[in-house]
Amino acid sequence: MKKLFWKIIGRPSSLQEDILQRFGISEKFFLEYKKQQSGLDWTKGNWEDFLGSMNPVSQMYVAFALSTVLRGRDMFSLLDSYSCIRHRKRYLDIGTAYAGFLRAFKEQGFEEVVGIELQEHLANLGRANMDGLDNARVILGDFLREDYSSLGVFDVVTCNDVIEHVDDAAAAIRKMCSMVGAEGCLALEVPNKDCIDFVRSDGHYQIFGITQLGRNDAADYYSQALGADRSDYLFEMGEMYELDWYIEQLSNNGLTVMIADTHRIARIQDVPTLLDKLRQAREDWRVNVQPRMDRLVVAKLTNAVDAYIQELERDISQAKDEASIKRFEDKYLRSFWTILAIKGRRYAAEDLEHAYDGNVGSVQKFEAGTLEKDTQQSITKQMIQTRESLSLKLARPLRFLKGFVHSPRRSFYKLLDFLRAEMRRNG
Ligand SMILES: C[S@@+](CC[C@H](N)C(=O)[O-])C[C@H]1O[C@@H](n2cnc3c(N)ncnc32)[C@H](O)[C@@H]1O
Repeated sequence: MKKLFWKIIGRPSSLQEDILQRFGISEKFFLEYKKQQSGLDWTKGNWEDFLGSMNPVSQMYVAFALSTVLRGRDMFSLLDSYSCIRHRKRYLDIGTAYAGFLRAFKEQGFEEVVGIELQEHLANLGRANMDGLDNARVILGDFLREDYSSLGVFDVVTCNDVIEHVDDAAAAIRKMCSMVGAEGCLALEVPNKDCIDFVRSDGHYQIFGITQLGRNDAADYYSQALGADRSDYLFEMGEMYELDWYIEQLSNNGLTVMIADTHRIARIQDVPTLLDKLRQAREDWRVNVQPRMDRLVVAKLTNAVDAYIQELERDISQAKDEASIKRFEDKYLRSFWTILAIKGRRYAAEDLEHAYDGNVGSVQKFEAGTLEKDTQQSITKQMIQTRESLSLKLARPLRFLKGFVHSPRRSFYKLLDFLRAEMRRNG
């Protein structure tokens, strides 16, 4: 009866319906994900309660997985706003996992979309997400080691949150660049090892300072800090590089590069507060973690973090004009870099003018001086807010109009939901 009532008034009657409506994933994907994540509490009646039933780390992973299509739509909008997309024929997503990016690009009229994914359970999820789409496929394989030249070249290639996991990033970038067609573009999203919040607590393991160590030292630290197997780290993670390194690799492969204005965590005036937090995290680490670590690892970590702080203090003292402030903020105050690279052409000044205005990325609702206490919670919150706000800003009005033609009642309630959410958000 209750279900029927909600159906009549067009509101989600179950967790499944709520998730499908919010996230735009296929039903087959939902069912496969539910099967794979059987430890979660799927008895909850809606998304908010479901999310609330998890710890912050699970929240982050679940929100990341389920938001796959929304994140893909954001990527499309971002590339489009920088006039990166010339043709909508062929799209390739490397390390596609849940393959929502493929769904999102299909929605935008791409003729053929292809994803490559290393892990079988994720490739299965990705394939489930291709349900109902033509010319859309996920290939199970290792992008780095297998020969994909028979796939030809693509109008758009993306590699989102993947490159830090491969063990030869330079080779991977070379290969990606070779798969970008004439006038095509490549978008790389990379976690920023120098983001001050990630030095305080990194995005993969939530431990202090690890992003400042090279791969082998990081593996030692990881195994001692978490009591885990060192080889797990080496399997999971590659080397993390500086921003200039990525720019150089792409330029050396003949692409014109720019850093999109995304994922800003703060502005330069917030740095003293962020530095205080970093120092506090270091003190907590000294008391709680250091005692169970060997001296060599402790020395390496403290040296690396000291060097980081010194460099940051030097850079901030030199950040006087607009260009050097931008450079400082790109280096220390973005949690991820979205690096856009185009082949065979240059960015036009007007493309950059019309591109996002600095409020886009994972910190959609950022306001200077309102930094979150907990990085993980803040990232999850930001991710959810971003998906909401970006979709609303760009894609949702159109979808709403389309939806209105098909189902006015449902659209009316969606509009009510949206207004309510906006009112809540704006207090
Ligand atoms: C953090 S996930 C990001 C997934 C997806 N791009 C997204 O943004 O939702 C990284 C993915 O890259 C995949 N991956 C890592 N190395 C790979 C390789 N050499 N070839 C193909 N996929 C790879 C992993 O299996 C994992 O699914």
